[in-house]
Amino acid sequence: MSDLTELGAVMHEEHFRTLVLICGLENRVTGEFADRPIDLHDVEDRTLLENLVVGLEEIVGHNAFEETVLFPLLKDVGADDLAVLLTQEHFAMGPLAKKLRALAVEILEQGSSTDRWTAFCDAATDFATHLMLHLQKEETTVVQHLGTLLDPDVDHALALRRTTERDGGKLGSQAGKAA
Ligand SMILES: [Fe+2]
Ligand SMILES: [Fe+2]
Repeated sequence: MSDLTELGAVMHEEHFRTLVLICGLENRVTGEFADRPIDLHDVEDRTLLENLVVGLEEIVGHNAFEETVLFPLLKDVGADDLAVLLTQEHFAMGPLAKKLRALAVEILEQGSSTDRWTAFCDAATDFATHLMLHLQKEETTVVQHLGTLLDPDVDHALALRRTTERDGGKLGSQAGKAA
């Protein structure tokens, strides 16, 4: 991965963090304890749900950056079909992420039940399947090729813009929580 551009490294790191989150989720909903509903008294279970809620919000920000900034640039360099395809995948994943987040919040606020857990597992599996394929596609078609797709100055400016937006957003939400 040493040939990633600055923006490529930023996007790759965000994809990697998402991957870690989703792999942990998949292990919980399909692994050896999948038939045991999440237990809010279990620190690992609770942390998984809390991290999922935050992580899904970060994915929304990541996707918004791609849709409004990165994909239009792909169109500018003739990769229209790819930009359209990746945007369609975002649109398909949006409602799945929203549903999964709502179920995670519901369990955190109202506790787990067999029905709620089953719905959560289904939503998690559905979202994870779509997301994994999407991340793989973006990594191989966009992230690893930004050096040829974007001018180095544009790449640098976008890397800066993304990290500023992302970290500014985090600081803002922390300040909001503290207030
Ligand atoms: Fe994406
Ligand atoms: Fe992405």
